[in-house]
Amino acid sequence: MELHTTKVRIGLVILPLILLAIAPVVLYLLFGYPLYYSSSTSIYKHISNSSSSDHHNTTSSSSSSSSESASLYDNDYDDTFDHPKPSSSLHINQSISSYQETPKKEHRRKKRKRKCDIFSGEWIPNPEAPYYTNTTCRAIHEHQNCMKYGRPDLGFMKWRWKPKDCDLPLFDPYEFLEVVRGKNMAFVGDSVSRNHVQSLICLLSRVEDPEDDSRQQDFNFQRWKYKTYNFTIATFWTTHLVRSEETETGQPGPNSFYNLYLDEPDPSWASQIVEFDYIIISSGQWFFRPLFLFDKQKRIGCLYCYIPGVRNVGAHFAYRRALRTTFKTILGLEDFKGEVFLRTFAPSHFEDGEWDKGGNCLKTRPYRSNETELEGMNLETHNIQLDEFRIAKRDKNKNEGLNLRLLDVTQVMLLRPDGHPSRFGHKPEDKVVLYNDFVHWCLPGPIDSWNDFLLDMLKTKI
Ligand SMILES: *[C@@H]1O[C@H](CO)[C@@H](O)[C@H](O)[C@H]1NC(C)=O
Ligand SMILES: *[C@@H]1O[C@H](CO)[C@@H](O)[C@H](O)[C@H]1NC(C)=O
Ligand SMILES: *[C@@H]1O[C@H](CO)[C@@H](O)[C@H](O)[C@H]1NC(C)=O
Ligand SMILES: *[C@@H]1O[C@H](CO)[C@@H](O)[C@H](O)[C@H]1NC(C)=O
Ligand SMILES: *[C@@H]1O[C@H](CO)[C@@H](O)[C@H](O)[C@H]1NC(C)=O
Ligand SMILES: *[C@@H]1O[C@H](CO)[C@@H](O)[C@H](O)[C@H]1NC(C)=O
Repeated sequence: MELHTTKVRIGLVILPLILLAIAPVVLYLLFGYPLYYSSSTSIYKHISNSSSSDHHNTTSSSSSSSSESASLYDNDYDDTFDHPKPSSSLHINQSISSYQETPKKEHRRKKRKRKCDIFSGEWIPNPEAPYYTNTTCRAIHEHQNCMKYGRPDLGFMKWRWKPKDCDLPLFDPYEFLEVVRGKNMAFVGDSVSRNHVQSLICLLSRVEDPEDDSRQQDFNFQRWKYKTYNFTIATFWTTHLVRSEETETGQPGPNSFYNLYLDEPDPSWASQIVEFDYIIISSGQWFFRPLFLFDKQKRIGCLYCYIPGVRNVGAHFAYRRALRTTFKTILGLEDFKGEVFLRTFAPSHFEDGEWDKGGNCLKTRPYRSNETELEGMNLETHNIQLDEFRIAKRDKNKNEGLNLRLLDVTQVMLLRPDGHPSRFGHKPEDKVVLYNDFVHWCLPGPIDSWNDFLLDMLKTKI
């Protein structure tokens, strides 16, 4: 313990200097990878419990049932809503053409209390998985194609999430497409958000491959259309949710500075989002790198700048403000009547070193929930998300038609150190930023569960 504290102190002084001094010459921008600083990284500890006004008790917020946290969750409704489940009458192997002949099912959604927090539970073995491979799905990003790059232990695919007090059905692509028929869905976020989208496309590939319906030739802003279901998925790339720009300050590469305009949403999504029925927002990793922070066009502070006269504020200050601006923007859209999901932070797992210092993690099995807990920067980031989600829910009255939902994967993914590409996201000789990637998730893999949750929540109206 004492040794650790000493390390923290030394880290506080030395690591920022190292980070600024030896920016690796890397290709990360080409891949749009988020920069990431590990939760176990000592330099970030000093901010870990500074900004939260409202400390959640980890135990209670992750395992629910306390009334405080229960009120945060919107998933306290039963999913036994009263429409005949199209899935149960359909075999997964039924051909698409025969499915199309079945009449469109009516989805009546009925409120019911669900006494179950679907995000609290354990990973249990599922020998049936996976439900797609790198040969049946073409959407897998190169760096998450762990099978291709020779990951030897494929056991990480063979788990499913089991909530403590109920069951979470596995993703049924037919049912999903019925639920979203005629709708469109936007994913707003960074490369982890893209990882989620690719999982969804792969899970749906059993039914239909989408057509490219992009408005522009930009990998970061793509649209896919499911013709049979008139369903569209769109991705909106944003590093910080608010407007940001990379600056010339500092070394180019992972340690360059970004200017963040905390009171302005990133126009790349904000200008487009009103037309969507579902918005899934997420962010996190990019807030832990060097930043200059602006409010009303005025510089109000920085993160890791060490410039005399500029206040060094915590990453969480910026993160909180950015989330608030995001919700404020969406709540302010008069014509928007859709459903907004905040997908919470997915912890990474670097052990014995940071993302750029050879950090690795050799786990090949999920943790049980009693073997680890959220702490440090993961805990703080999650707390901010819960806080800002609650604030947004409280302010939502301004826009009655809109639903806010919490896709709370943080604890679920904390338990999956085995689900990352590690060094199996590229050829051994490739020079990539995240040489050992413990930020993104292999496909197929545990991130597929996010779509189990998503479908379950889409079926339970609030
Ligand atoms: C941070 O939290 C720990 C325990 O959770 C506490 O011991 C410590 O004093 C706190 N630090 C600050 C700066 O509040
Ligand atoms: C958190 O809550 C649990 C159970 O409600 C309790 O046992 C524990 O002492 C609490 N921890 C803190 C730090 O308040
Ligand atoms: C489809 O699946 C059902 C059970 O799920 C099985 O009985 C049937 O033989 C399968 N049909 C084909 C063509 O694979
Ligand atoms: C899929 O994975 C296998 C190994 O399981 C690999 O040999 C193959 O190249 C991969 N294919 C694609 C298209 O990624
Ligand atoms: C497809 O869905 C859009 C809304 O997303 C709707 O405006 C359009 O009329 C639908 N087209 C068909 C053919 O149903
Ligand atoms: C966690 O729970 C399991 C099953 O309830 C138990 O077997 C195991 O010993 C527990 N582990 C720890 C570290 O408490």
